[in-house]
Amino acid sequence: MFEIKVYNEVDELLEHLAEQLMAYSLRSKPCHIALSGGSTPKALYALLAMEPFNSAICWDNLHFWWGDERMVEKESAQSNFGEAYRTLFQHVPIPEENLHPINGANELSIEQVHAEEEIVSKLDKHEGRPCFDWVLLGLGEDGHTASLFPGQVDYEAQSNWVAATHPETGEVRLSLSAETLCNARSIAFVVTGANKAEIVRDVFGDEEESEQYPAANIFAFDGETQWLLDEAAASLLVND
Ligand code: 6PG
Repeated sequence: MFEIKVYNEVDELLEHLAEQLMAYSLRSKPCHIALSGGSTPKALYALLAMEPFNSAICWDNLHFWWGDERMVEKESAQSNFGEAYRTLFQHVPIPEENLHPINGANELSIEQVHAEEEIVSKLDKHEGRPCFDWVLLGLGEDGHTASLFPGQVDYEAQSNWVAATHPETGEVRLSLSAETLCNARSIAFVVTGANKAEIVRDVFGDEEESEQYPAANIFAFDGETQWLLDEAAASLLVND
């Protein structure tokens, strides 16, 4: 159901992700990739913006979406799209139409309708639902992923996008739903840092205990699910 890969250094993990992205870009048809938010992906964006990946990746062949977005202006440092654009996309030759951000400046319910139309019209379907080629996800210390927060998730929600509220900041967000995330061909959780070691241990711990964590319930129903960790984040995992 899933594979755990532990990298000695974060740089090795980032290199693997960049090479995987390059492989997607060289496929015979366009690939649709959902990026995670938060801080973890920023180091990957910096690597991709530099040579050799800047020139080696066939950016025309990649379409980027976001697994979740904070409902803020893209100029805000809180904007997942804004940060990705400033650290990566404005530095590489990717056509504007290949970027499919949530418009965080819009009123939530209006943007939710627009986002639903966009994803249904642009993505191939699997089992009647939009199907990403690759979904990159992070892990919060409370076990959330995308903006699927503990105690808030409707795992049977039929829409592709769901509204969410950050339990601490009250920030309003749009997130891909659990059903749409799990419909992806491939999912990769990317988790680094000692501060994530406890939640990684708990997500892979006792099944009854772990099901409270949304990240533990997200896996590709008909595809591959990988957990890509650095040693620090994996430091409390017990080798079975
Ligand atoms: C978001 C994310 C969220 C993130 C985790 C990990 O918009 O905040 O999508 O799910 O991936 O909170 O965040 P860090 O990478 O900052 O630890």
